[in-house]
Amino acid sequence: MTEADREKRAAGRAAAGYVASGMAVGVGTGSTVRYFIDALGDRVRDEGLSVRGIPTSGDSAEKMKARGIEVVGFGDVNKLDVAVDGADEVSAEFHMIKGGGGALLREKIVLTAAERRVIIIDSSKRVKTLGAFDLPVEVVPFGHEYVLDTIAQTGAAPRVRQSGGGDYRTDNGNLVLDCAYGSIADPRALEGVLKGIPGVVETGLFLGLVDELLVGRGNEVETITANKVWG
Ligand code: A5P
Repeated sequence: MTEADREKRAAGRAAAGYVASGMAVGVGTGSTVRYFIDALGDRVRDEGLSVRGIPTSGDSAEKMKARGIEVVGFGDVNKLDVAVDGADEVSAEFHMIKGGGGALLREKIVLTAAERRVIIIDSSKRVKTLGAFDLPVEVVPFGHEYVLDTIAQTGAAPRVRQSGGGDYRTDNGNLVLDCAYGSIADPRALEGVLKGIPGVVETGLFLGLVDELLVGRGNEVETITANKVWG
């Protein structure tokens, strides 16, 4: 196991402690979240914890079922008590880039709907300024060439994400443009520009969507409560 995996596991295990019996839980996607699902599954098995979870991807849904966690949809719950998800980058202002795993649309819906948001990362994900990680943007297939050209005019070098010898498709049947900005000085302004382009479904900029940030450092976990006044 790599050092990063150890940190992901530590953060994922700590996040399971934020779930209480009877809660509805939003479950993100990715390698860090898989450790959270494992730890939550252990609590369901060992403590008889009763939880229902809304997964943000087929991958997470399968893993939850395998660990005995009930999978439900938004129509089955009155509210989402807590959501747990990973991130590709978290800035000093607690803004994030997400979508490396392609589940950004469902992840943004779930994090926005949740009463409490717990983000779990290894220490390499904490950055000063967003943008070294290419920003994923989910777009409908129709006219995506136009969207790509338009995004290129905003200072990025976008490319259509590839997988298995063809265009990658999200769980929603859309494409992902990975946009190399290098550095994103004003995430709010960029979000406004990108969301204004017809054909853009969602961006991987997650602004003001962290309540607790759990950072794995070695075998320890640093817990940071995000400032509620967003820049
Ligand atoms: C999934 O679409 C992403 O938003 C993930 O949350 C993000 O890529 C983090 O993934 P890892 O935990 O695998 O690094």
